[in-house]
Amino acid sequence: MSDKNLESILHESRSFPPSRDFTAGARIKPADLEALTSEAAADHESFWARLAREEIDWHTPFTKTLDDTNAPNYRWFADGMLNMSHNCLDVHLKANGDKTAIIFEAENGDSHTLSYRELTAAVCRLANGLRALGVQAGDRVVLYMPMTAEAVIAMQACARIGAVHSVVFGGFSAKSLRDRIMDAGAKMVITADGGHRGGQIVALKDATDTALAEGCETIEHVVVLHCTGHDINMVEGRDIWWSELVDGRSDQCEPEFVSAEHPLFLLYTSGSTGKPKGIQHSTGGYLLNAKLTSKWVFDLNDDDVFWCTADVGWITGHSYVAYGPLAAGATIVIYEGAPTYPDGGRFWKICQQHGVTIFYTAPTAIRALMKFGDDVPLSHDLSKLRLLGTVGEPINPEAWMWYHRIIGKERCPIVDTWWQTETGAIMMSPVPGAMATKPGSCTRAIPGIAAAIVDEQGEPVEAPNMGGYLVIEKPWPSMLRTIWGDNDRYIETYWEKFNGRYYVAGDSAIRDEDGYFRIMGRIDDVLNVSGHRLGTMEVESALVAHDLVVEAAVVGRPHEIKGESIFAYVVPRGERPVGEDAAAMTRVLRDWVGEELGAIAKPDEIRFADNLPKTRSGKIMRRLLRTIARGEEITQDTSTLENESILDQLRGEK
Ligand code: WT7
Repeated sequence: MSDKNLESILHESRSFPPSRDFTAGARIKPADLEALTSEAAADHESFWARLAREEIDWHTPFTKTLDDTNAPNYRWFADGMLNMSHNCLDVHLKANGDKTAIIFEAENGDSHTLSYRELTAAVCRLANGLRALGVQAGDRVVLYMPMTAEAVIAMQACARIGAVHSVVFGGFSAKSLRDRIMDAGAKMVITADGGHRGGQIVALKDATDTALAEGCETIEHVVVLHCTGHDINMVEGRDIWWSELVDGRSDQCEPEFVSAEHPLFLLYTSGSTGKPKGIQHSTGGYLLNAKLTSKWVFDLNDDDVFWCTADVGWITGHSYVAYGPLAAGATIVIYEGAPTYPDGGRFWKICQQHGVTIFYTAPTAIRALMKFGDDVPLSHDLSKLRLLGTVGEPINPEAWMWYHRIIGKERCPIVDTWWQTETGAIMMSPVPGAMATKPGSCTRAIPGIAAAIVDEQGEPVEAPNMGGYLVIEKPWPSMLRTIWGDNDRYIETYWEKFNGRYYVAGDSAIRDEDGYFRIMGRIDDVLNVSGHRLGTMEVESALVAHDLVVEAAVVGRPHEIKGESIFAYVVPRGERPVGEDAAAMTRVLRDWVGEELGAIAKPDEIRFADNLPKTRSGKIMRRLLRTIARGEEITQDTSTLENESILDQLRGEK
């Protein structure tokens, strides 16, 4: 074992209890956590029913908590009626209407705020506009927007009228956008002329036009927000400016009260096959967990300023930007641009300027910001910070310690939150005032969530530090309801492995001597690049769609900042390129994947070979390819290879 490994293990055994001050001011103290945990253990359903009654303003109260007649298609609070936007906005107006809801900062530094009253009015005006264009409850609306306050306004406006939004990350390509519009059968796209990112313009409306040029017959209108002001094409009769749509509309809009099971949104995510899955979330159960975790995990208090840096294109931007913190009545920060624009101090400058007290970001961002050196954060006033969080991938203890020392000044607890697009809300995390944290551990499941580790047979793994499948033993309110249009795939992907006994997360994990969980990574062929899930199959499908490519295999390789980088093996049509030709073909294929899927899916490295190593049954030997990509010694059996000398090509030696 190298010294470095040894050091990591020593760090991991360290434990950091919250300060007495932090605990004294926390919403959940150790005794509260104990009480919640035993209440949930005593009666799972009554626990969630009590919280659902207390936390949600119901239009019609529910009478049945959990309906498991069609398990694993569980239903929660199904006969209750409510509206999400009403629960995020209207409920605060009487006592807190003038409280700041959103502090927005554009990439160029301009900033403005919206009070809860102003935000509600903006949401209502847009909701009225959408209704005027014929959008009704249950209709799907695709959002393809920059990270602006209007992105949240658009989500809330959809929720207000019961329309189902599907946010497509602005960094995804026109083709990805088209696939998602068609899969959802969307009626409308809400976009912007463009967005600002790293000093460049992201041409969102152009990409929308390209997406809509083929198929997409269900789209009736495109609503366009003025953001960059550059010239774009507007299609007569189809396209309408946001500003014109809301002009003269009332700032009151009666919410559409829907069943708790009514779909609030779809969000597409990667799986181990080529086609992205439209993860379908509910209204009532989703609201409950998003709100509760905002309070329990982020300890939101009245004077907090909460900044979750995630884009609304990801689940984190749904649960901890657009919904959870607003339901909890918090003040949030939204920043439009790149984390390191114009320099590596941008995040810290925003924290200083707006007095951020709770900061939630991804390990990949922490590692990238670490690279700029300690002086950058040290030259900013971060004294208002009191709680830090991470999400998206395992955080290495070195980055955790840096976050703890340099950003948190050893004063701020770090909540390492484990969850997924599918879980809707945080599942495992420290409850910061009530327990000690450890570097690299998401600690324990929050009250009401039954997380466990099981072996191949589905039996619990009891011994400490033994790996297994991470599973959830009982349904929970914010769980995904299905995969849009493909319930069989829902059952197969998440429930079949152990015959419906558990929800299977697709991650492997261990528990240490204290029962603290540590996530080891994905079990399936899914990459985690900068905290975003990408299916190896998606990248492979994009590569083989190119004329020059016969076959492709994609694997992940550890990367210092991104977590994993994408490494592609490609069998080209005709002669295998070498030298300059290989470099040129690499450029062509990287650009191609960028167009097909978006820039984050571009392979970092492509290696050309005459064929790929396969098992006797014809399966590509991915494990072998992974070993080679990492430059590790091959220990697998390679005797089945049709051509041993291929190994030298794969290693890049010939
Ligand atoms: C996958 C889910 C949930 C928001 C962002 C990602 C990995 C997530 C952690 C964490 C270790 C983590 C898992 C998970 N992951 N949080 N705190 N520690 N790994 O959402 O795209 O649905 O990805 O991200 O592998 O399954 P997602």
